[in-house]
Amino acid sequence: MRIISSSKEMQAYSAEEIRNGNTIGFIPTMGYLHEGHLALVKKSVSECNKSVMSIFVNPLQFGPNEDFDKYPRDIKRDTLLAKEAGVDVLFYPSADEIYPDDLPVKMTATSRTNVLCGAKRPGHFDGVVSVLTILFHLVQPNKAYFGQKDAQQVAVVKGLVDSFFFPLEIVTVDTVREVDGLAKSSRNVYLSENERNQAPLLYQALKAGKEALAHQSVSQTIEQMKATIGKSTSAEIDYIEILSYPELTKLAEKKGTIMIALAVQFKHARLIDNLIFMLE
Ligand code: PAJ
Repeated sequence: MRIISSSKEMQAYSAEEIRNGNTIGFIPTMGYLHEGHLALVKKSVSECNKSVMSIFVNPLQFGPNEDFDKYPRDIKRDTLLAKEAGVDVLFYPSADEIYPDDLPVKMTATSRTNVLCGAKRPGHFDGVVSVLTILFHLVQPNKAYFGQKDAQQVAVVKGLVDSFFFPLEIVTVDTVREVDGLAKSSRNVYLSENERNQAPLLYQALKAGKEALAHQSVSQTIEQMKATIGKSTSAEIDYIEILSYPELTKLAEKKGTIMIALAVQFKHARLIDNLIFMLE
């Protein structure tokens, strides 16, 4: 596995591979890899000739009071895991490589961002679309792989790719979970033992919500989920919403592709999860 830290070198590598007729799969990450990230790699390796993973904790997508400094990092372990998973190139740039100057053009995500994490984390998705625009131009992938766990991110990134005509396909991979149902996340390491025992309830509440929605209203379902989570965990509920997917608008009727999404704040970890399903 080759490790590249220079943006110019990354772009030159991809240009060469494209000239050689190879297809490039891209897995953008912030590192501290777990099986969720590795599922994206697996899919890329099975579909593309070359797989490029980036590890870059993007300062632009963290708010001033968020966990940028404390975001978990372990590049040694990540390097081993990426290599084992079949990554061909690990792109591991410094912040200066990605943002050498103040960005002279700022990107703003204008739709699908006034709800869920977009509403709770102002500027977050502006940071995500900015860094991905840069990374897509450096890596020049045919396909880029994203996890359904961050469903709003997928919706926003699809909007970016469609409206700016990026010549690449966004591939979505199902959420990878622990045996007890907790969605794998780099932030799970910050759960206390007690919180870790409570956390699987989030997925259970989502599944119960899906069942309940079939025979009761959206607001009743949300209230019921809030009560379950409030009663059985110490987490503070950030939001629980039921929306159309990928438009992320309020449901006109209980029909079509629907997402139940939640975010909760434990003492040192903010966790998100969702379920996406069809109702006839
Ligand atoms: P990060 O949180 O490291 O996630 C990288 C990718 O892994 C995302 O597409 C995310 O949805 C996926 N992922 C995380 N946990 C997963 C799980 N349990 N199952 C399946 N996929 C999972 O998302 C980011 O980084 C950043 O915002 C980034 C896109 C890299 C831009 O900075």
